[in-house]
Order: sequence, then C-alpha cells, then structure tokens
Amino acid sequence: MMENLKLPPLAKASGIVRLPGSKSISNRMLLLAALAEGRTEIRDLLDSDDTRVMLTALAKVGVGVTAIGCNAYAIEGCCGQFPMREADLFMGNAGTAIRPLTAALALSGGHYRLSGVARMHERPIGDLIDGLRQIGADIRYAGNEGFPPLEIHPAHVELSDPIRLRGDVSSQFLTALLMALPLTGQRVVIEMSTELISKPYVEITLNLMARFGVAVEREGWERFVIEGGQRYHSPGVLHVEGDASAASYFLAAGAIGGGPVRVEGVGWASIQGDVKFADALAAMGARIEWGDNHIEARGPASGRLKAFDLDLNYIPDAAMTLAVAALFSDGRCVLRNIASWRVKETDRIAAMATELRKFGATVEEGRDYLTVSLPPSSVLCPPSSGIDTYDDHRMAMCFSLAALGGVAVTINDPACVNKTFPGYFDAFAEIVAPVIAIDGPSASGKGTVAERVATAFGYHYLDSGSLYRLTALAGLRAGKALDDETGLAAVATSLPARFSGGRIHLDEADVTDAIRTEEISVGASKVAALPAVRAALLDRQRAYRRFPGLVADGRDMASVVFPGAVTKVFLTASAEARAERRYKQLIAKGMPANMHALLQDLQERDARDAQRSVAPLRQCDDAELVDTTEMDIEAAVAAVMAIAKRQGL
Ligand code: DC
Repeated sequence: MMENLKLPPLAKASGIVRLPGSKSISNRMLLLAALAEGRTEIRDLLDSDDTRVMLTALAKVGVGVTAIGCNAYAIEGCCGQFPMREADLFMGNAGTAIRPLTAALALSGGHYRLSGVARMHERPIGDLIDGLRQIGADIRYAGNEGFPPLEIHPAHVELSDPIRLRGDVSSQFLTALLMALPLTGQRVVIEMSTELISKPYVEITLNLMARFGVAVEREGWERFVIEGGQRYHSPGVLHVEGDASAASYFLAAGAIGGGPVRVEGVGWASIQGDVKFADALAAMGARIEWGDNHIEARGPASGRLKAFDLDLNYIPDAAMTLAVAALFSDGRCVLRNIASWRVKETDRIAAMATELRKFGATVEEGRDYLTVSLPPSSVLCPPSSGIDTYDDHRMAMCFSLAALGGVAVTINDPACVNKTFPGYFDAFAEIVAPVIAIDGPSASGKGTVAERVATAFGYHYLDSGSLYRLTALAGLRAGKALDDETGLAAVATSLPARFSGGRIHLDEADVTDAIRTEEISVGASKVAALPAVRAALLDRQRAYRRFPGLVADGRDMASVVFPGAVTKVFLTASAEARAERRYKQLIAKGMPANMHALLQDLQERDARDAQRSVAPLRQCDDAELVDTTEMDIEAAVAAVMAIAKRQGL
C-alpha cells in the first residue's frame, strides 16, 4: 500500500466525472431491502469499504446477497427475521452500517455482537441505545458505556409511549430507529428531545422508506409517527444515485481551477441534501449549471472566489470541502454549526484546523465552528510536511484540492479514500493532471516529439492514433466492414489492448508492427472518420490523464478529448520536409520508397484530413504553432518543452 501520494502543483481543472454511487443511499437501500418482503435488485451500488461492511454483515445474519453484475446486487428480503439468530459482526468504521443495523438486530430476537475499528469504539452510539432501551430492547455495552462494541440479546419490545431521542449528536440515530421500527408492526412515535442536526440525511431515509412502502408522518422536525401495520415491500429494481458528497470535491475543483467541471450522477432532482453544496459554491461566486443528472461548476467570471459566513448544518460532510475552498477566497470564511464534525471518522474540526495551518492559513477553532483566513498575500505556503488524513477519507479528498493553489501536496495514507471512493485520485487526476496536447498533420514527427517530451517531464504518453489503428485491426480481424459504424464502435468500446514497455498487445498478441502496415493506416483513417467510434474511444483516452501529467498526441486532443489542456501545440512542417522524413525512415527500414509518390500521398491525405467533417485537421485557436521544417527532432522537442515551461509545467 502506498504510504503517501505526491500531488504536483496544479493550475487548472476541467473535465467530466462520473460519480460513484452514494454511500448514504447504498447502505440504506441494502438494509431496507433486507428488511423487506421480496427480492430487490440494487444497481449502481457504491463499491467501497463501508458498503462491503454492510453487505458482509447482512450475509452473516443469513440474508441472501448475490452479486448480479458490476456494482449490482440482488437482496432476498427476510422481513426483519434474520435467519442466523447469532452472529459476531465487524463493522469497520462504517457509521451508516452499525447504527441502523443495531436497531434492526435489537428488534429481531437474536444474539449479536457488533464491533469495529478502534475509532468506531470512540464514536458515540448512546443516544440510539437509550432510544431502543425505552421500548425494551436488551443492548449492553461490551466496552465503554455509550460506545461500541455492543451485545444484543433477545427482548420483548413494547411501543406504548413515544420514544424520546436526542438529535444533536448524529441524525443517524433517528435514521436507525425510523428504518427499524416498522418491523414491530406497531404504531411508532419518536419525539426529538433536542434539535435535530443534518436534517437532509433524514429526508433521504424517509424518501427511501417510502419507496419500500412505509410512510412516516413528520411534524416539523420534532415528531415522527409511523402508523402500525405497515411493512416493507420490495420495489423490485432500484438505482443508487451518484454520491453528492463526493461531487463536492470535483465541483470545488471546477470553481477553484476555472472549470468547467461536470459531475454526472446527481442533478437538481437528487434526494441528497449535499447537492446544496453547489449553492454554497455559487454564493462564493462560482458559476453553477444544473441538469437532470449533472451539475457543472466554473470559476467566478472575474476575480477570486468570495469569502463566506454560513450555517452549514444542512451539509455537514460537503462543508469540509468548503473549509479547503476557503483557502482560495478573498477573505475570512466562517463555517458555523458543524459540531457533528467532532464525532465523525476523526475529530474533523481539530484535524481540519491543523492541516489548513500547514498552508499558512490563520484558523480559529471553536466547539462548533471554524474560521479560515489566508495571509494578506493570499498565496498558499507550500506545506513543510505531508498532509495527515487521520484515517478519514474526506480529509484526503478535501486536501487534494489544495494542490490547485500551485503548491505540491503530499497526502499521507491516501488509501483511506477506499472507505467511500476507492477510485478518487484517478478521477481527480482526470480533471486536474496537466496535459500537453500535440497535434499536427501526418509525418510531422508529432509522435516522436510527444514521446520524448513525455519522457523529459516524466509524464504518461498517449498515442491516440494507435487506438484507431487497433480498432481497425481488431475490426478487420472480427470480419467487420470498415464502414460498419455500430460494429466498429462496439469493437472500440471493448478493445482488449495493452500497452507496456513500448510494445502494443491486442489480447495476448504483440501487434506493435501489425498496426503500422499500409492496410491498417488506411483502415485507421477510415474508422477515425466514424463519429460513433470516436465517441467510443473518448473515455478510454481521458483515462490516460494521470499524475504527474500526460502528453497526448493526435487529431482532436486539444479540441475534444482534453480541451482544458494546459499546453496545446500544433506541430507541422512543409509537405516536402515531411515527405523527405518519411522517405528516410522507409529506406532505413530497408523498405521501398519513392519520394514523389510519398509527397503526393501526403498532400492528398492533408487535404482529405482537413476537409472531413469529424475531427478535421485544424490548428486550435489556443494552440501554439511549431513549424519544424528547419528543425531536427531535438530542436522540435526543445521548442515544445519551452512552451510547456512558459505555461508553468
Ligand atoms: O497518428 P496515426 O497516423 O497513428 O493515426 C492513425 C489514424 O487515426 C490517422 O488517420 C489519424 C487518425 N486519428 C484521429 O483521427 N484522431 C486521433 N486523435 C488520432 C489519430
């Protein structure tokens, strides 16, 4: 496991991110499906430590859990009668799993023991246990009073009086009771004895319970009533929305790093309160656009983001992202009403204050608030040590944003993101890792130059032309006609290609030379003119954008694939110079060559490439021209590197 991750200084953020499933929705749906009558298929489930904890626990108490595809599970509901009447359950550090499961198990008449990692044993659960004991549940503390580990024993529960529950430590206690108590079949009344925090999370609970057929009457946020005789019924197939808390990092990156950054998987109709994070960004001056299933963020039209003073009780998790966004604002930011941070994966108020100070920020920490201001220079100080993450996924994700302040940031224990978002740093790289896009006509030497520039910077290298060549080769081998757009797009989508050590493999066969033949060159130029093939290769090409950076060569690198590239170069040379280079290459390889024919061929190809309707050969407005007619390779490489360095790379 990597001990730390070094993020290079970053300047810009732009791109598209498909969000993983929401943690809050995933774990609630899993439990409700288990408590329901019938079989539920849950699709787009989050694949992470916390959901694995829930899946494993359900399987251990005898619930039928079957993987039915990528991030999809079938759950055989057991109506709250867990087949295994005794189990020892390890809940990791998953609050969204231990709380509701404790409530459901306490009503199920079995013997269970629930424990977790050391930090879980420091996270309070007493209010929930008090609530459950009021109705007769038999739950004992196996360690410290008020905290896991817990022992659950069979008990007779009776709901005559309203349950009085505190709401000011965690809203998950209310969520746990609401989800479990319909199992009693009795009328349930819950009254809050203190103000309820994090209300939008309770709204997610009520919304999902309704989808499983149980209605809750809510009187303000003080009293909740579930009429007796209601049961959970499987709604059949359910899809998990994208994770709105995870969206906050990318939207903030768009606001800080110019954008546009688009997140897909949540939109205006989302049931997650954390989408309101986008409103907080808008209040800072970011430009936000909402769609049915996406949100997009750009930086302010002019100037820096504005400082804020906000009550953030309604978005406790996404609010952490604002604490780091504060580093990019024009003044003193105040985050209010965030006391729940103190009982999360770590004491997030203390952790955030400590780490923000490493960038030179002035931070004031209160019981339930945080203020953040930068020194008058408004420039981030490069931290003298790594950023500690306290086994808290959100600390790691939040502080990745600080690199957009143009400072290198080392994230300690980056694997802590696995709790909710195992692919976080790859997704982040896809919007922020610097890209040098190099385009130009055939035989301009762009491939050689791009590869050498990549080596010099220590960046990854994408030879996009090889993907079109591979598609042509694989298509021909599969018997596809070179104008079969749908068939070739399918080939492109599932291309079994592997690049390693300068060699290219298709399945297990080395095709490095096979894709360079004349037949495949002609085939590649034909398949590259098919829009569906280009679309099919888009995500694959974007996935090459990784830390510390990427040099990408090909037709539409600067215009379509990486429009946010830091450096865009159009590398060209006169047709005569290019024909001569190709001539020398062929002769060197001992192949027959005719200078006149080569020149004519290049001129025809230039004309065809410039005229085609998709991705025509054209210099992007914001690309710099490098004419290599009079240059050798070394000079061309130096010219491109000089441009990139001028742009801060
Ligand atoms: O760069 P190359 O010769 O290996 O590219 C093979 C073909 O694919 C060529 O006809 C150009 C086309 N191509 C493209 O249309 N878009 C890209 N990004 C890369 C190559």
